[in-house]
Amino acid sequence: MGRTFYASLLTLYRLVVLSGADYDCPYQMCPCEESRILCANMGLDRLPPLTTTQATYNRYLWADNNNITRISNDSLPTDIIFISLTNNPILTIDDDAFQRLSTSLESLVLSNARFTKIPDAFLQLTDLTLLSISNTPIKDWNPVVMSQLGSRMETLTLENVSLTTWPRWLQNYTQLTELIIGGHSISSIPDDAFDNMANTLQRLTIANTSLTAVPKAVLKLHFLNMLSFTFSSISNLTWLPVYSKLNTLIIQNARISDADHAGNVLRPFADSLTQADFQANLLTKIPDVSFMTSLQILQLMNNQISDPVSGAKTPALQFLTLNNNPLSTISAGAVQNLPLLQSIKLANTKITRLPLSFASLSNLKYFDITGARDLVCTCLEVSLRPVLLKVDTLLGDCGAVSIRYFFASLSPSCPS
Ligand SMILES: *[C@@H]1O[C@H](CO)[C@@H](O)[C@H](O)[C@H]1NC(C)=O
Ligand SMILES: *[C@@H]1O[C@H](CO)[C@@H](O)[C@H](O)[C@H]1NC(C)=O
Ligand SMILES: *[C@@H]1O[C@H](CO)[C@@H](O)[C@H](O)[C@H]1NC(C)=O
Ligand SMILES: *[C@@H]1O[C@H](CO)[C@@H](O)[C@H](O)[C@H]1NC(C)=O
Ligand SMILES: *[C@@H]1O[C@H](CO)[C@@H](O)[C@H](O)[C@H]1NC(C)=O
Ligand SMILES: *[C@@H]1O[C@H](CO)[C@@H](O)[C@H](O)[C@H]1NC(C)=O
Repeated sequence: MGRTFYASLLTLYRLVVLSGADYDCPYQMCPCEESRILCANMGLDRLPPLTTTQATYNRYLWADNNNITRISNDSLPTDIIFISLTNNPILTIDDDAFQRLSTSLESLVLSNARFTKIPDAFLQLTDLTLLSISNTPIKDWNPVVMSQLGSRMETLTLENVSLTTWPRWLQNYTQLTELIIGGHSISSIPDDAFDNMANTLQRLTIANTSLTAVPKAVLKLHFLNMLSFTFSSISNLTWLPVYSKLNTLIIQNARISDADHAGNVLRPFADSLTQADFQANLLTKIPDVSFMTSLQILQLMNNQISDPVSGAKTPALQFLTLNNNPLSTISAGAVQNLPLLQSIKLANTKITRLPLSFASLSNLKYFDITGARDLVCTCLEVSLRPVLLKVDTLLGDCGAVSIRYFFASLSPSCPS
């Protein structure tokens, strides 16, 4: 009895009544909620003093949008598994900053930091499986640290971090399932770049490069679901990962001009691909995708498509974007037998007449043809009335009246 008893009772009370949340909420200034430590948006210039060095219940630290420049030794408690410090101008991370977390921290997210060398402190993160660094001018990649982090890393994001060449240390990332990486002066990727992650990598995004072709290294990836190249000079798609069952392929803001090539390279993915995004390329016609059985989304906006005959005839298609193309007509067969099509965007095209083949689009819910200044509606299109009046969102005008007004109010007086 006595002191020990009451101390135990107090501990029990804290555990039960305060259910962990307040009990080991480690920073006086930051509230805790459902195991999260809420330090974001508080104008902090450093992490506040610790009230306990052990945070066994509150394990997710959110400290985004502050003015933190330094993570010092002793500023983090034990057992944290997730830290997000986006939008903090971090310049220094002390060598022992992560000492208490070395076997607990799994995820670390940083952006708009100012350190120019990968901190040696990362060497202590032996269990890190997710690392994301964005908008940080890193000059020294500290290959010793970066290769050591590789053996357990599953998700790695390096966006706008001044990468100039393909990093050799990536060969040590043997468990990687998702990689997002970019760098303006990357003009080539070694053929063996992905060899050590060929059996794990599922999602790959490569942005902002000066590549002119899909790199041959990609061909060896066998388990890729998603492949994305954005902002590049890619025109040659020969080395797509044909042994993978890709469901998403994104090659946007590139230089693809040959529609026959773009269609042919999709053949190995005829049964798996659900989304093909070729927006902002140089295509002059719609690639032939008629053999694709699962394609639901086809993005072709911001190209040079003017060929009226080419079509998007693929049976599972639900979303088609053709806006910002110099297309003036769509031939009768081009958009036909698309029973599932629910959204079509033709904004800012040069379409002059609504295609009569749209009468077969019985599931259309969204149709945008705004900015097609040459569009006229006449009694010849009266057969489109049932389909167009059923569309939930119908955007665009024929001449001085909206399309909806034309079909709802004017077309009934057309001679039958
Ligand atoms: C952030 O800290 C710097 C000094 O380290 C200071 O000059 C600046 O005004 C602070 N910014 C904000 C938004 O508090
Ligand atoms: C942090 O800890 C390391 C190792 O104990 C030590 O070398 C370093 O000087 C410390 N840094 C600061 C700023 O106290
Ligand atoms: C890229 O990072 C730099 C800092 O290194 C930043 O100034 C710039 O705004 C970032 N660019 C974008 C598009 O976020
Ligand atoms: C990284 O990979 C290389 C080549 O496979 C190997 O020699 C090296 O020991 C690895 N480094 C680490 C830190 O695992
Ligand atoms: C690519 O550049 C854009 C715009 O500059 C930037 O927002 C994005 O973060 C970059 N992506 C990568 C992976 O570097
Ligand atoms: C595309 O790349 C492949 C493989 O490098 C090459 O054989 C083919 O000639 C290239 N195609 C064009 C149009 O350059």
